[in-house]
Amino acid sequence: MRTSVAIIGAGPAGLLLGQLLYQAGIDNVILEQRSADYVLGRIRAGVLEQVTVDLLEQAGAAGRMHAEGLPHDGIELLFGGRRHRIDLHGLTGGKRVMVYGQTEVTRDLMAARAEAGLATVYEAQNVAPLDFDGARPRVRYERDGQTHELECDFIAGCDGFHGVCRASIPADRIRLHEKVYPFGWLGLLADVPPVSSELIYARTERGFALCSQRSATRSRYYLQVPLTEKVEDWSDEAFWDELRLRLDPEAQAHLVTGPSLEKSIAPLRSFVCEPMRFGRMFLAGDAAHIVPPTGAKGLNLAASDVGYLSQALARYYRDGSEEGIDGYSAQCLRRVWKAERFSWWMTSLMHRFPDAGAFDAKVQEAELDYIVHSRAGAMTLAENYVGLPLE
Ligand code: FAD
Ligand code: DHB
Repeated sequence: MRTSVAIIGAGPAGLLLGQLLYQAGIDNVILEQRSADYVLGRIRAGVLEQVTVDLLEQAGAAGRMHAEGLPHDGIELLFGGRRHRIDLHGLTGGKRVMVYGQTEVTRDLMAARAEAGLATVYEAQNVAPLDFDGARPRVRYERDGQTHELECDFIAGCDGFHGVCRASIPADRIRLHEKVYPFGWLGLLADVPPVSSELIYARTERGFALCSQRSATRSRYYLQVPLTEKVEDWSDEAFWDELRLRLDPEAQAHLVTGPSLEKSIAPLRSFVCEPMRFGRMFLAGDAAHIVPPTGAKGLNLAASDVGYLSQALARYYRDGSEEGIDGYSAQCLRRVWKAERFSWWMTSLMHRFPDAGAFDAKVQEAELDYIVHSRAGAMTLAENYVGLPLE
């Protein structure tokens, strides 16, 4: 089999890249190690920047998002027992975010791909990117006990943090930057109405909490927990009890509880691989970088990477120019590092760190107080939260 671009991974990065390339007339095949149902079963991000919304439109997969997604004009910061609104719309000259789950984005992109008749190989085993340092890369994989090879011009490594693409690059040719946080997020999804119309980011003495949502009838909540916690040890009741303790009295009164649809713990990490290109293989999304989820940037960065990559490849196939693909890594990394900084900063601001003393806690409170009472402070948060513009 032969294609122009072999995409490894059918997460948001791989699926969106596939549609953007298709719209530019570039054929592509996706190889995914899991089944489509497994990919759809992963409950992850929920906040889309305008840049991501625009890319989904360009990909021809934005119809349901516009019909069912929830545009949000603000978020709330809860600290010292009180909530303070950050007016995203007013502070950014009219920008907002869209609350629409990663699961739904993935489902819409899968449907668009099926409609376009593009090839996706699910349950591809032992996927191996080969010869990407030369002019004729290939990808070997197994399916139903048979070995196959896909010849291509380029490989897009969209296979997430634990994927095979980054791991296939010689270690002395890349630089890895990493920071691991001493806590995780326990997430719970339930069919209950959200506690408030906007998202609440809460800093409390018991740790961080986030009240998010997927629709008027489905809520997503997160609790900061020590890394030693196990999800099996958290009954739904224990989750709701702990969440209630981290909310203000009004939110406590409005909290509706119910059985969980999903519960999981995610560790928090900052990670960047430089560069994001090696020969004829490009890394995009979580394969190249991870942010802690506090700033809601992971999925959005995956989208902007593949937005840049599709432009660079379209230019290559249109007029043979390699300028775009040569500039891909540096262009992505400028945006990636700004999102890394913002996500690290939001995480540092809102969480309880095990080794922090009373002084650190006071500085955290002072910074939050500054942000909500200074237009400059609030603007900095708002500008980054809605997403920095593409170059
Ligand atoms: P992924 O979504 O990881 O997709 C990679 C795909 O590649 C997967 O389908 C995988 O099965 C496939 N793959 C892996 N290895 C191979 C292989 N060898 N061969 C073939 N296919 C392979 N972000 C937020 O903003 N908010 C959140 O609340 C949030 N929660 C998260 C919770 C968890 C547990 C995780 C892991 C991430 C979370 N994120 C969150 C981050 C966000 O979901 C990711 O940034 C986003 O999924 C990145 O998309 P991606 O396509 O790059 O990678
Ligand atoms: C969600 C996750 C985030 O990390 C975030 O900052 C906001 C919302 C969510 O899953 O809804």
